Amino acid sequence: MSGVAYEYMENYIRSLIGEHDGILKEMEEYARLNSVPIVHKEVARFLELMITMKKPLKILELGTAIGYSAILMSLSSHKKSHITTVERDKHMIEIARENVKKYKFEQHIDIIEGDCLEVLKTMQEQYDFIFMDAGKAHYNHFLPYCLKLLNEEGMIVADNALFRGMIASDELVKRRKITIVKRMREYLNTISDHDKFITSIIPMGDGIAVTVRRN
Ligand SMILES: C[S@@+](CC[C@H](N)C(=O)[O-])C[C@H]1O[C@@H](n2cnc3c(N)ncnc32)[C@H](O)[C@@H]1O
Repeated sequence: MSGVAYEYMENYIRSLIGEHDGILKEMEEYARLNSVPIVHKEVARFLELMITMKKPLKILELGTAIGYSAILMSLSSHKKSHITTVERDKHMIEIARENVKKYKFEQHIDIIEGDCLEVLKTMQEQYDFIFMDAGKAHYNHFLPYCLKLLNEEGMIVADNALFRGMIASDELVKRRKITIVKRMREYLNTISDHDKFITSIIPMGDGIAVTVRRN
């Protein structure tokens, strides 16, 4: 259980989503067997919905891991989106590159090796959709760059925004997670108070924060 939504609720929602097959199922199995953290099933479905709705041509992802969410978003767009995804762990990059090659996404997914903050500092292009899923303790540092890189109609989805419930309740906070909690609260405070952006925080998966520009 995530500590964010009731278990019975998660189980029910997951039962309605059903199972992926093919590539995604294989990757889910790999992630499970090798304890690689990939998006929760209901967050994966939310991403699929947003990609279907917004039809973003350019997507930026922070946190590739084995390439699961990048491939999921690419498939949801029928390979019409171009995805740039950033990862710093060499082993993850190797597996993600193998997956991208094996499943023929080379034309659609670029994996950039490096620390998200350092990579963000060098980026100039605009993106229609940004999925933040790396370095929970640094979302507040990534934010100004992401806001700058976001297209007029763009959307940011930040995963783990409620981090096992700890963000919402001091009673749940584990000592060694205090920095993550403080910084994630900073992220949520900043983005929730922003006069140019509107954000909705949704208690699904580990919590997501969805941000778009105000009209
Ligand atoms: C939750 S996983 C990403 C999962 C992936 N989005 C998916 O659902 O398939 C987070 C990844 O971010 C990477 N990461 C963490 N902090 C990072 C940073 N500062 N820069 C780059 N990558 C980072 C980790 O190595 C890990 O592979």
